[in-house]
Amino acid sequence: MGNSLLVLKSFDMRSIGCGELRKTHISSKVQLCGWVDRCRDHGGVIFIDLRDQSGTVQITVDPNQGATLFQTAESLRNETVLQVTGLVRPRPTEALNQKIDTGEIEVLSEDLTVLNQVRSNLPFTVSIHEEEHVKEELRLKYRFLDLRRERMNRNLRLRHKTIKTARKFLENEGFIEVETPILTRSTPEGARDYLVPSRVCGGEWFALPQSPQLFKQLLMVGGLERYYQIARCFRDEDLRSDRQPEFTQLDIEMSFMQQEAIMELNENLIAEIWKTVKGIDLPRPFPKLTWLEAMNQYGTDRPDTRYDMKLVEINDLVKNIGFKIFANAIAAGGCVKCITVKGGNESISNVRIKPGGDIFSEAQKAGAGGLAFIRVREGGEIDTIGAIKDNLNDTQKQELLLRTKAKSGDLILFGAGATQIVNKALDRIRQFLANELNLINKDQWNFLWIVDFPMFEFNDEENRYEALHHPFCAPNDEDIGNEKTSWETNLPKARAQAYDLVLNGLELGGGSLRIHNPDLQKQVFQTIGLSEEETKKQFGFLINALSLGAPPHGGLAFGLDRIVMLLTGEESIRDTIAFPKTQQARCLMTEAPADVSGNQLEELHIVSTWEDPE
Ligand code: AMO
Repeated sequence: MGNSLLVLKSFDMRSIGCGELRKTHISSKVQLCGWVDRCRDHGGVIFIDLRDQSGTVQITVDPNQGATLFQTAESLRNETVLQVTGLVRPRPTEALNQKIDTGEIEVLSEDLTVLNQVRSNLPFTVSIHEEEHVKEELRLKYRFLDLRRERMNRNLRLRHKTIKTARKFLENEGFIEVETPILTRSTPEGARDYLVPSRVCGGEWFALPQSPQLFKQLLMVGGLERYYQIARCFRDEDLRSDRQPEFTQLDIEMSFMQQEAIMELNENLIAEIWKTVKGIDLPRPFPKLTWLEAMNQYGTDRPDTRYDMKLVEINDLVKNIGFKIFANAIAAGGCVKCITVKGGNESISNVRIKPGGDIFSEAQKAGAGGLAFIRVREGGEIDTIGAIKDNLNDTQKQELLLRTKAKSGDLILFGAGATQIVNKALDRIRQFLANELNLINKDQWNFLWIVDFPMFEFNDEENRYEALHHPFCAPNDEDIGNEKTSWETNLPKARAQAYDLVLNGLELGGGSLRIHNPDLQKQVFQTIGLSEEETKKQFGFLINALSLGAPPHGGLAFGLDRIVMLLTGEESIRDTIAFPKTQQARCLMTEAPADVSGNQLEELHIVSTWEDPE
């Protein structure tokens, strides 16, 4: 550059970003804008670190440049918004800073303009120099300040890059983005709806979409063939670190494609995101497990396959050994399963497995009554507390060691009871111990497709079948047969043409082929207990659409917040969303939800029955 002229684009308040300055700019005059990251007074010379989104640069204020200028610099508080005009010059050798990109230069200030003051105490430090741990409540209350900090700024940029990559990929594949309504009818995705009262149609309600499911199917009926949307979804459900009441799906639907082709396209999309955002080449194809295999081997349909400790079912081995708890569980249609903890004989004490212990408590949280266990001592000698040892003969002991692959020094934990509870308990313990025993390689990306989900699960409380995903998933043709007359009997036990993508134990996305035959769709509604009249009322438009030339179609939706959480290495999706809600579904900054006036309620024809418990 080497010229000292300051060139500004019209109406621009700065000529370059703070973090963009390099040695090549030496001798140029620049105008910068940003926040005071920190100020240091070094015996007569003041150094200001000025920060904008591109980075920071050191501004030097020399008293020789004028008294007014120096006074302004002396009065600056952190986070003041500042405009600086000055000359870029090399730093003296002893002041070079290799840690930052602008560390070879500084800007000698000729003019300082305060664009906005900081008028009260900062609730926490924003500076890039402070890795201060700030309580999440405070961060959320002052989210605008939190966003100014490096962590959130970086996360939102990565989120943007992820969306941009997905858009580019999908658009190259012929997809177009279409917006679907936010004020709509309830879609059955399994959670409670957020409802919006209608003022104009008194007594009637919109629901905010739990997903754009039905609209995307209708777009296929509408002949669009390839749709995607960065879609906001709303679900009133219990919140966890990977769930928000308002979250974003990368939602996709396509016509005339079979399951394998849809999965391959989505795999390519995910691989493109990982390549562009993280520079990682993911090995492909991603492995697949059927739902049944996943449940048998891991007790969950979203297993973390970065570590082993698989569940082993041993019903046949133990059903007749005379151990009552095992025999009863099996006789009642349940199961006995175990997991082997490598080296667990040494590292895990009896106290932890028995009532009151932390491992016991994990099983209890899943509804299990307790855990039996076996310690494998030196030379493969089996040692137990309680009855199991005495009930196993030598051949059975050897068989047990063979099946569980347990060796000297290992611990075997047993769950017995209803299969669902045993699976849940051993899944919890598996995850709990993997964390404790550091079995998880944090640098590994274990993608896994789960396929062949059951269409339905039985809800004992309501004594009816419920759709496992949603009632629009197509059943496996082989399972239901070609004859319409066989559907009623075959459907409840059929597998769905559905698939979930799991990464490191977290469900990233899920989808299915959809039903495009109106008669089959009606039969599915009947299976989940909807009467013909209810079907007509709630889903008449869908049945109409399927009856008027609906193409075979299918799709998938990814949880965008979850993808970004894993890409950023954060532990909560709250750190990937600009303005998230708390665990109580509140916005601490705007204090929503909040009271509304009596007039507003009246206009909406609503009377509140809420009584404050206090
Ligand atoms: P599903 O209900 O599985 O499928 O949702 C798809 C993905 O959305 C993410 N997700 C969430 N993320 C944050 N907070 C939540 N409360 C939340 N709930 C779900 C998950 C999940 O895998 N319409 C179907 C998709 C389809 O069939 O095409 C659907 O919504 O990552």
